[in-house]
Amino acid sequence: MSVTDSTIAKTHSKTDIPLVQRKVSFDYSQTPLHWIPDDPYSSHFISVIHTILPAGEFFFCRLYNKALPYIEDEQLREDVKGFIKQEAMHARAHSAGLAEYLEAHGLDTEAFVKKVEWIFEQPLSDTPFGRKLPKSLEKRWLVLRLGLIAAIEHFTCVLGKYALENENWDLKDADETVLDILRWHAAEEIEHRNVAFDVYKYMGGNYVGRAPQMALIFTGLMGLWTMGASHLMKQDPVIKKRKSRLISRSFWSEWSQKAKKGSLPSFSWLAVQSARYLSPNYNPATEADTQQALDYLAQSPAAQRAEAFA
Ligand SMILES: [Fe+2]
Ligand SMILES: [Fe+2]
Repeated sequence: MSVTDSTIAKTHSKTDIPLVQRKVSFDYSQTPLHWIPDDPYSSHFISVIHTILPAGEFFFCRLYNKALPYIEDEQLREDVKGFIKQEAMHARAHSAGLAEYLEAHGLDTEAFVKKVEWIFEQPLSDTPFGRKLPKSLEKRWLVLRLGLIAAIEHFTCVLGKYALENENWDLKDADETVLDILRWHAAEEIEHRNVAFDVYKYMGGNYVGRAPQMALIFTGLMGLWTMGASHLMKQDPVIKKRKSRLISRSFWSEWSQKAKKGSLPSFSWLAVQSARYLSPNYNPATEADTQQALDYLAQSPAAQRAEAFA
């Protein structure tokens, strides 16, 4: 066994590259509201991520900083530090997307963003709904939330692969800045796809917990995603009222049609992706290809402009 092999054998880390933060920035000054030309529905459906991700990813950073003192595995600690730095930059980039893109186009996002923030600051906080937990439950509560994040990170990995491989957006001449932020983020999600799952297992998270955690995350993500999309669409006069209402059949049939045309992932595809997380043999390493991510980062305009900080 070589020195490298024996080092790998001793670590719980399955991440095979150092995770670096790329200090990116995006210029939305020329980006139209309908960043997929002639497709306002799909444009808003994807743009809603700017309203959901910052609160979620800053929450990830807080939680993994809490987990760090429990982690003695040096390689896994390095992964976690890189993960925190990458997620912090994702949150900042999407916050800028929110302010400099959606709000600059006159969309009101405040009420919806507040709802998203409430989820992370109340029920999922260290003191859920203001209640201080007994010391004996603190670690269990941390591990449960790390399990929820591992389930989310499965989604960000598969959606990352979807974004990198979506040729339809290029064929439709989608806006290059939006494509770049989506794909830069996608590539880094693929780079760090093992970290949350490795930490969940290291901290004592087990297989049994994964099914209820994924059920909660799938329901929560679909709820937030569709509610947020509907909130943006209702403010856009070019979208017919019935198509923008969450409780209308048109909203869901339009989603299905856009998915068939390749502009959006379909609900059924997302359900199948989430089910894969329930396999006892689930392994994030086989969910995507790190080289595909690195290939995109090597050509991403924002990543190329950015300095990398390990
Ligand atoms: Fe992220
Ligand atoms: Fe992530």
